[in-house]
Amino acid sequence: MIKGLFITGTDTGVGKTYVAAGIAKALRSAKIDVGVMKPVETGCRPRSGKLIPRDAEALIRAAAVRDPLSLVNPYRFQAPVAPSVAAQIERKTINPGKILRSFKTLSQRHRFMIVEGAGGIMVPLAQGYLFLDLAEALGLPVLIVARPGLGTINHTLLTIDALRSRRMMIAGIVINDGQGGQQGLAEATSPAVIEELSGVPIIGTIGHRSRAFGELVEHLKIQVNRLKVED
Ligand SMILES: Nc1ncnc2c1ncn2[C@@H]1O[C@H](COP(=O)(O)OP(=O)(O)OP(=O)(O)O)[C@@H](O)[C@H]1O
Ligand SMILES: [Mg+2]
Repeated sequence: MIKGLFITGTDTGVGKTYVAAGIAKALRSAKIDVGVMKPVETGCRPRSGKLIPRDAEALIRAAAVRDPLSLVNPYRFQAPVAPSVAAQIERKTINPGKILRSFKTLSQRHRFMIVEGAGGIMVPLAQGYLFLDLAEALGLPVLIVARPGLGTINHTLLTIDALRSRRMMIAGIVINDGQGGQQGLAEATSPAVIEELSGVPIIGTIGHRSRAFGELVEHLKIQVNRLKVED
């Protein structure tokens, strides 16, 4: 049985946290107990001698969970770079096994888990270990958050290719308008091109400042059930 979603993006800043939090809230409204994880967060600001993982905190608020931060976010760093690089700079070691153990504990507590990556799927998490490796080890279907505008065809197809190279389940693509940009030609035409070339459905389009995640969650349920049947 599918126990959740791994949320990746075509890049950093595309709206993974925004979409993950929106889905978590919508699931909670549908009375589904949802747990969250941001396994590694970088670029954390210090406050009173502690690093504040803003994504992890946003996810905890959205899902309204009481799980300890050490399980939701086992690793956090101040340097605003890829996790493996931040760990090297701060002379720490990231152990993917610890992340997998935290996930197991949380997934036993919750019916559905939402796990947010960092940056995109090819970002290095630890020495010789990418987020792609983590997503594969977690065994969750992957939801891809993509930008609406120019460049998104290339970034989205590359992300899909990477996931398919491991035969991973793809739950779909969400086009998220994080910038509130113009609705130009690229925005109007890219989604259909991505669907046609990849065969992966766009299961939702989230407008700028939109809070309408109910429909996306309905499509997600249908898609996840379809994945279950096909697998
Ligand atoms: N649909 C949206 N409407 C309004 N603002 C948005 C939307 N999506 C994202 N944002 C804003 O854009 C910024 C980047 O989004 P977000 O933090 O979700 O990206 P991310 O992919 O999680 O980034 P990271 O790689 O750092 O985790 C945030 O300030 C967020 O609030
Ligand atoms: Mg984020």
